[in-house]
Order: sequence, then structure tokens, then C-alpha cells
Amino acid sequence: MKKIVVLSGAGVSAESGISTFRDSDGLWENFNVEDVASIEGWYRNPELMINFYNERRRQLEHCQPNDAHKIIAELERQYEVVVVTQNIDNLHEKGGSTNIIHLHGELTKACSERGKTNVVDIGYRDIEFGEKAADGALLRPFIVWFGEDVPLLTAAAEQVRKADILIIIGTSLNVYPAAGLVYYAKDDAEIYVIDPKEVQPIQRKVTFIRQKATDGMRQLRAQLMKA
Ligand code: APR
Repeated sequence: MKKIVVLSGAGVSAESGISTFRDSDGLWENFNVEDVASIEGWYRNPELMINFYNERRRQLEHCQPNDAHKIIAELERQYEVVVVTQNIDNLHEKGGSTNIIHLHGELTKACSERGKTNVVDIGYRDIEFGEKAADGALLRPFIVWFGEDVPLLTAAAEQVRKADILIIIGTSLNVYPAAGLVYYAKDDAEIYVIDPKEVQPIQRKVTFIRQKATDGMRQLRAQLMKA
């Protein structure tokens, strides 16, 4: 069975109503990333960050996977599929994908601020500022913030190395190390990029599908899935 790795970003969830980061009216237009998504921001004002992620978690509860998430899951019928996502939402799971690596963490989980241990599922509930983890330290969102390492990067790179097909969808490829994963692909891997806009240049031969995620995945499904 051939192996597909999907490298997704915020754009795959845009049609589910979740803002991207760098589009106009994106999240970083309305918030200063250093204040709400960096480890420095956490030590400067943890309550602001707790509230920022509480708001995003409340919003996520009402979001549904779109056809792009569902078609990515459908590929599992004919391929071994691994989803490597930069997204912290759970829409790939809700869409039916069964093998997902969350490079930047998960919005529905929380952990101890002491080493990001004692990870717990909190679903869509708020974290109360001052709430403690099992080890007595502050409970924080289980998210990889700017300035923190990306523990699952090696695991993700191992998957990309083995991919016959790499589908890059809904990411501007602005953020490393995630954006560098494409360069782990085999020389003969087929690389597809799905995005309605230009993304950062990739120094590899790629097939660019200039579509939004749902239309792009419909087009790719017709090509990849035997009837
Ligand atoms: N379908 C597909 N792609 C879309 C759609 C859509 N409907 N709408 C927007 N896009 C594309 C944009 O053109 C852009 O290329 O999605 C991409 C979103 O890029 P970013 O907003 O930069 O999001 P992302 O690449 O996921 O950011 C990576 O940066 O801030 C950090 O941790 C955060 O994981 C995030 C990382």
C-alpha cells in the first residue's frame, strides 16, 4: 500500500470557520503573537494566554470538519495515510483521520507548566487561571508556543521520509521547523501543494493546485483514488 503524508496548516480548517494566522483578518492581525503564543508571553502574563486559548477552545466546540478533512480521511481506504498537522484543532480527528501528529499541540489538552508533563484531556472546557496540574504546578494549554521546542518533529520527519506522496495543504510554510519537513521527502516522492494563494517557495518539484482545501482535495481525490 502506498504511503501518503499530509502536511496541513490553518487553511485546511478555514472552511470550517476557524481563522488562519496570516491571511487578512487572520489571528495575528488581531493579536500580538508574542503576547498570546510565545513562552515569553506565558511568563509575562499567563492569565492573558489562558483566556486567549479558552476563547479559541469555546469557538472550536461549534466547528465541524469540512470536506477537505473528510477526503483526507477517505484516502485511508486505499493508502497508508499520516496527517502531520500544525493545527491545534481536532477537525482531522472529527473528519475521520486515524493517524495524526500534532506538531504544535492540541487545544483540547492541557498540561503542567513544569516540563509540559501530566497531559490531560479537557475537551472544550476553560482552564481557570491558577488551576493546578497533578504535580501542583500551573495548568497550561498543551500547545507548542514560539520559543519552545517541537517534540514531535523527529517523528514527523520519519514519516515524511517514507512518503510516496506528500500533500501540503493550507499552510503558508512560514514557520520552521514545520515548513522544513518537505525537504525530508524522497527524490521520487510526488509533492502536491493545495492553496488558493502563493506559498513560500519550495526548492522541490511540486504540483501546485491553486484551490481552496475542499476543491483541491476533491480534484486530488479524483486523481489518487481508483473508483
Ligand atoms: N483552503 C486552503 N488554504 C487556505 C484557505 C482555504 N480555504 N484559506 C487560506 N488558506 C491558506 C492561506 O493562503 C495560507 O497559505 O492557508 C495558509 C494559512 O497560512 P498561515 O495563516 O500562515 O497558517 P499556518 O501556515 O498554518 O501557520 C503555521 O504559524 O502562527 C503559527 O503555530 C501557528 O501553526 C501555526 C503556524
